Order: sequence, then structure tokens, then C-alpha cells
Amino acid sequence: MSVIDKVVAREILDSRGNPSVEVDVFSGKNQGRFMVPSGASTGQFEAVELRDNGDRFLGKGVLTAVKNINEVIAPKIIGRDIFDQEGLDNFMIELDGTDNKANLGANAILGVSIANLRAAAKARGQWDFEYIGDSKRLPCPMLNVINGGKHAGGDLAIQEFMLMPIGFDKFSDALRASAEIYQQLKKYLKKKYGGIAVNVGDEGGFAPPIQNTREALQALMSAIEETGYKPLEQFHIGIDAAASEFLHDGKYHIDGKQLTPEEFSQYYYELVEEYPILLSLEDPFDENDFDAFASLVSKYGSSRAVVGDDLTVTNVERINTAIDKQSMNYLLLKVNQIGTFTEAKKAFDLTKSQNWGVVISHRSGETEDSFIADLAVGWGADRIKTGAPARSERVAKYNQLLRIEEYLGDEASYNNKI
Ligand code: PGA
Ligand code: ZN
Repeated sequence: MSVIDKVVAREILDSRGNPSVEVDVFSGKNQGRFMVPSGASTGQFEAVELRDNGDRFLGKGVLTAVKNINEVIAPKIIGRDIFDQEGLDNFMIELDGTDNKANLGANAILGVSIANLRAAAKARGQWDFEYIGDSKRLPCPMLNVINGGKHAGGDLAIQEFMLMPIGFDKFSDALRASAEIYQQLKKYLKKKYGGIAVNVGDEGGFAPPIQNTREALQALMSAIEETGYKPLEQFHIGIDAAASEFLHDGKYHIDGKQLTPEEFSQYYYELVEEYPILLSLEDPFDENDFDAFASLVSKYGSSRAVVGDDLTVTNVERINTAIDKQSMNYLLLKVNQIGTFTEAKKAFDLTKSQNWGVVISHRSGETEDSFIADLAVGWGADRIKTGAPARSERVAKYNQLLRIEEYLGDEASYNNKI
């Protein structure tokens, strides 16, 4: 039997320069490591990310979470079977004793959960994706090339504008084409808005001084065409509105207007009619408005992806509400929203039981850890969203997908389905 011999946690920095948690789990000569990410436009119902408050790092230190791992969790899990992932996760959930991991911190619990999984994969001599599942399908990447909202300093309300390379047979070709468009977009923005337009936001996308959605979509369309690719046939576009962030006093503040929820629905209808390339709409409304989400699903059926992120926070209870109300047809899955591998898998399975799609996602505060690439392949997730094809914390995931595709050779497939 392979057991946990030692657990060591430490405070590291994430891609925004804020502290985060890193955990090593040791079993014999095998070591598993995980670096925990952190969001900015976090959903109200996410599991609790424990921060120290106080003076260090302007209150954002994670030494309490680190101490919870080293002094509370570690002594109680030494000797556990590393292959019993579910047992470990359930044990930590019970040890925490709250519904939202407020005691020990989801950042503490998740660090241990995934580091254990990786030690187990090593002990089996497998890649993480092989240990995680049987799938050999590479996900379609959603590359966030224009950043707005909380991830940038400008006036664009919509948080993310993403390239979706649909018309390709291989992940590596899809990534190459997307990276070419990213470079062309840079030229386009620089010419149109000047050098300031190509500064980048938190997820590596450009943060140009664009004030409305249509202008951003137009920039993307132009960049796709100027690079020589065909909109609709080869590329679609996804947006993440993260709409809770610009809802104030019952009105959505967007494009210089203040829209009621009804007017905002109308706004989407017109946008999709003008830009049929718009395939995926994430968090189009406030995170509590299951009904507004449902109205988009009933209008578009499966011809558009209506994606729940802040709405459902990778939590089966909220996904069940979304199922009852038919509020979405895609789940955005972020392991740190819920805090253990096992619970994230339950969220995945429940979503798949509805024949809905799943997008595995990074956070805006990331690290060089590439775990989610393996997760997306192992589970056979439909799509992966992990930022621009630039900045190493984003590219780390895409590069891992390239390695996996190469390793799988002819066995690899690519999800180019709409
Ligand atoms: P976050 O943003 O990590 O800041 O929450 C990503 C997203 O909303 O999908
Ligand atoms: Zn989102």
C-alpha cells in the first residue's frame, strides 16, 4: 500500500503577485504538488478562500491556511492510502465541519486534495490525465484575447472575449491558429487605438480603450479575417459577461447605458443576431437570476452555449437548481470554487447526466501549475478556458495539452464540435 508520509504547505505568489497556497504530498519517493489559484470576479457562493487579513500582503496572506495544512490536516492524514481520493476528500470536509470550508479554508483543502492525487498518479507511473480518467480527447480551448471588467483597467463591461477554434482536426493546429490571430489582433489594436491598446489584462488578453461590446467583437472579427481564417467555419467567439460585476441597483451598466434585466435580454438577442459567430455566453446575467439564464436557454436551445460560472460555482446544489430551471447547458468548472477533487467530479458527473457540456477553467489569479490541462483531458471535458496564448501562467496549460497530444499520438482526438 502507498500511504501519505509527509505533507508540506507553503505560501507562494500567484500571477497577480498575491499570496497563494502550495502543497507537497509525499508517499515514499513519490511527490505530488499543487499550486492553488485565486479569482477576482468570484461568485458569492464559492467555497471560502482563507486570507489572513492584518498587515502582511495588505491582508491577503495565506499563512493561516498554510498552518491549517501543516498543523491540523497533515498530522491526521499521515498513513492514509493515497489511492483513496474520495476517502481523503470526505475526511477533510468533515474535519472542516462547515458547508463552505470556512474553517480550514478551501485553498488549504484543495491544495492537499490535488497534491495527493498527483502523488498517486506518480506512484502508478502515470500521467495525471491517465490517472484521472480514460478519455484521450483534447478540449477545445477558449482563448481570452480581450480583457475587460475586473480583469482590466478600462471601461469595457464584458470581462472576457474568447476565440474558439472550432474548425480544426488537432489541438495543436487550433492553438497555432489562435496564437496567430492573437498577434494579428495586437497589430490591429495598435494601429487603431495606439500603443496603449496592447497592454494586457490579468489573463493575458489585450486591454484596449474600447468602451463597448460591439467594438470589441468587431476587432476580433477583423483579426480573424486578416489572419486568413474563416469566421464561423473555423472560429467562433465566446464571451464571459461576469454580469454580477456590473449590476448596480437593479440595472446592468454596459456600453454607457443602464439596462433593466428585460432590456439586457434584448441586448443579447440583438448582439447574437448581428454576430452569429457568438457561440458561448457565460454568466450573461446576475449570479442569482436563474430565470434570466433560463430565458436565453429557451430562446437558443443547444445552438448557443449558456454557461454557468458564478451562477453555479461548481456546486451540485446550485447545479441542481439550474437543472430544475433549465438555466444553462454548459457548466464552467473551477476546482477551487468547491475545494476538493471529489466534489468537482460530482459536479462534472451531474452536469454530464443532463447531456450538458463542461468547460474546465483557470482563475484570473493563476500559477504555473498546469493541472487543469490534465483534468480536462482525463475527464473528456468539452472545452478549456485558460486565458490568452501569452503569459506563462496561461500558456503552461496550453503547453501541457500540446505535450499530452504528442504523447497520445494517433490515439488523441480533438473536440471540434459546436
Ligand atoms: P475569476 O474570473 O477567476 O476572476 O473569477 C474568471 C471567470 O470569471 O471565469
Ligand atoms: Zn466567469
